[in-house]
Amino acid sequence: MRREPYVHGYGEREAQRLLDQADSVRDLVHHDTAFPPDARILEVACGVGAQTVFLASRHPDARIVSFDKEHRSLSLAAQRVRAAGLRNVDVVLCDLFAAPFERESFDCVFVSYLLEHLPDPVAALHSLAGLLRPGGEVLVVEGDHGSCHFHPSTPEAVRAWNCLIKVQAELGGDSLIGRALYPLLCAAGFKEVQVSPRMVYADSSRPRVQREFVLQTIVPMVEGVREPALREGLMSPEAWDRGIADLKATGSTPGGTFCYTFFKAWARKDQGA
Ligand SMILES: C[S@@+](CC[C@H](N)C(=O)[O-])C[C@H]1O[C@@H](n2cnc3c(N)ncnc32)[C@H](O)[C@@H]1O
Repeated sequence: MRREPYVHGYGEREAQRLLDQADSVRDLVHHDTAFPPDARILEVACGVGAQTVFLASRHPDARIVSFDKEHRSLSLAAQRVRAAGLRNVDVVLCDLFAAPFERESFDCVFVSYLLEHLPDPVAALHSLAGLLRPGGEVLVVEGDHGSCHFHPSTPEAVRAWNCLIKVQAELGGDSLIGRALYPLLCAAGFKEVQVSPRMVYADSSRPRVQREFVLQTIVPMVEGVREPALREGLMSPEAWDRGIADLKATGSTPGGTFCYTFFKAWARKDQGA
C-alpha cells in the first residue's frame, strides 16, 4: 500500500477523526475566539472543514477563504459548507507555499493542526505573514504529543504513543510543536505573541470527553501509524495490539484517565511591516 507523505493520511476514518477532534475540544479551544465582525479571514489547510463551519457560523458577516492542498479533503469541506447553508465561505484548492491570494489582503489568518506536519514551520508562518495586512492577526492552534499523560500507563501504551511521535518526525513533522509556538511566531517576525495552553482531561466522570476525545480522536490517530510502526520494527504486532487496547482502557475503564495539552497562540503582524 502506498503511504501518504502525511502521517494521518486522507482516509474516511481520518476525515471523521478530524471532525470528532474539532467537536470534542471546541469549547476548550474556541470559547474566546473572536474575529472582527466584517473581517476577511484566511483559513489555512482547512482539511475536511472541521473548523470552517464553526468559524463561518460564528462570524456571519466575515468573508472566509478556506484552502487546502488536498482535493479529497477540500471537496468534503465544500460539502459541509453547502450543507450548513453558509454563503460567506470560499473554498480554494492550493498549496500554502504557492497560494494565489493578493498580498496583504487578509485581516486574520487562522491555522490549526498544520505546523506540526511541516518541515519548516517558520517559512510557512512567513508566507502567511505576507498575506496578512499590516496589523493583522494570526491565530494558531496546535497540539503537543509530549504533553500527554495517561493512567494506567503501561509500557506498551507508552511505546505505541511514542511510535506516533517517531513516525511523524520521520515524515519531517514535529508533533511536540505546541510548546514551540511562541519562539516560532517570534522567529517569523510576528509581534505581541501570546500563548495559552489548554488542557483536556478525561476520567469516567466525564464520559463525553472520554468517548469523543480519547476513543474517537486520540486512539484512531495512534492506530493510523500501525503499518509504518510495524514495518519499521518499532513494536511487534502483539505488543502493538496490547498498547492500543491499553490506550483504549485509559478512556473507557472506571480507573482510566487521560490528559493532553493544546496550545493556542495569537500574534500581530507589525503595523509598519
Ligand atoms: C491535520 S489536518 C488539519 C485540518 C484542519 N485545519 C482541522 O483543524 O481539522 C492538516 C491539513 O493540512 C493540509 N496541508 C499540509 N500541508 C499543506 C500545504 N503545504 N498547503 C496546504 N495544505 C496543507 C493537509 O492536506 C491536511 O488537510
